[in-house]
Amino acid sequence: MALKTLRQLLDEGVDGRHVLVRSDFNVPLDEEGNITDAGRIDASLPTLKALLEGGAKVIVMAHLGRPKGEVKPEFSLRPVAEALSERLGQFVALASDVSGEDAHERANGLTEGEIMLVENVRFDKRETSKDDTERAAFAEELAGLAADEGAFVSDGFGVVHRKQASVYDVASKLPAYAGALVEKEVDTLNRIKETPESPYVVVLGGSKVSDKLGVIEALAEKADKVIIGGGMCYTFLTAKGHNVQKSLLQEDMVETCRELLERYGNKLVLPVDLAVAPEFSKDAEKKIVDLDGIPEGWLSLDIGPKSAALYAEAIKDSKTVFWNGPMGVFEFPNFADGTKAVAEAMIDATRDNGSFTVVGGGDSAASVRTLGLDENGFSHISTGGGASLELIEGKDLPGVEAVSN
Ligand code: 3PG
Repeated sequence: MALKTLRQLLDEGVDGRHVLVRSDFNVPLDEEGNITDAGRIDASLPTLKALLEGGAKVIVMAHLGRPKGEVKPEFSLRPVAEALSERLGQFVALASDVSGEDAHERANGLTEGEIMLVENVRFDKRETSKDDTERAAFAEELAGLAADEGAFVSDGFGVVHRKQASVYDVASKLPAYAGALVEKEVDTLNRIKETPESPYVVVLGGSKVSDKLGVIEALAEKADKVIIGGGMCYTFLTAKGHNVQKSLLQEDMVETCRELLERYGNKLVLPVDLAVAPEFSKDAEKKIVDLDGIPEGWLSLDIGPKSAALYAEAIKDSKTVFWNGPMGVFEFPNFADGTKAVAEAMIDATRDNGSFTVVGGGDSAASVRTLGLDENGFSHISTGGGASLELIEGKDLPGVEAVSN
């Protein structure tokens, strides 16, 4: 299966043509609605610039959060339109609807090299509908924005694992291509999936074991070590007989974790100490304890320094590293050390050991920027959390399949 690429579309020529682009602008916002990490917006620029330089009339579709089919102002793409305008150095209009009158009028009014954004596609409940006919009807309306001679470019890598109207169905309504970001992500992540050089170390964090089960199983078969931290490690520690007190725990997954520990033995690496607090708060007191030393009623918010050193050592000796999910609550500076240690060890491994190091999307990518680390120190920072996991796990990605032949 080969991707139909943006280069092919540019070679065919886009001058004067409407090009409908699906980007992933699902960026984190603070309470005032300011974007706190614009990584995904920056990653979308090469495709958008190439199309604009080619003279296309560009219409961008994206989602923000999960408004569940309702128009909710807090999920408006307004902050994204502003951030895009700044970065592109040209005005990016935001339609007041998704595929309605305003979106159509604005799309018809575009001239060569102009760009607009339609409102959050998830304001329309058909976007995420499980009913193929409903999604197809919405996709038809979206494709209608691109008029005759239009084309579709799938460039929202973070959302390609979703079978949704603007990601998947619309690709059957117009000539469809993969954008530069999707192409780069797929090529890079395929290298990890298909030919990871050993020692291959996977580092997994994040809050729910249930979300990562498939990936733990798939990667434990291939990797030399699967290092576990973050919220999900407490369910594993419980399965090993430790009392994690008030730390995050998925009781219904304890048995599954026990089975995984039996099946994969020493391949699964767990913390040996913890950074704990009496409450979930930025200013909480911090104590370093052994696994059985969490004071009654306290909770763990990060791995401890011995664990961080152990994890860093394994990473520095590796030839391939894939990391998804922070090791602790990195947003609280007191509990960011574990996450920082993993990220810094990856940078060292890239520089000193020629290791191929990939940060898998979402929170881990945001943590690299929040902690002020050098983004260029990694081989690749993916824009997709769930999407990158599903790709290396070997699942089919609807938004990639739709632009392949
Ligand atoms: C993400 O943030 O991982 C993507 O944008 C997908 O969002 P979703 O999980 O709400 O589908």
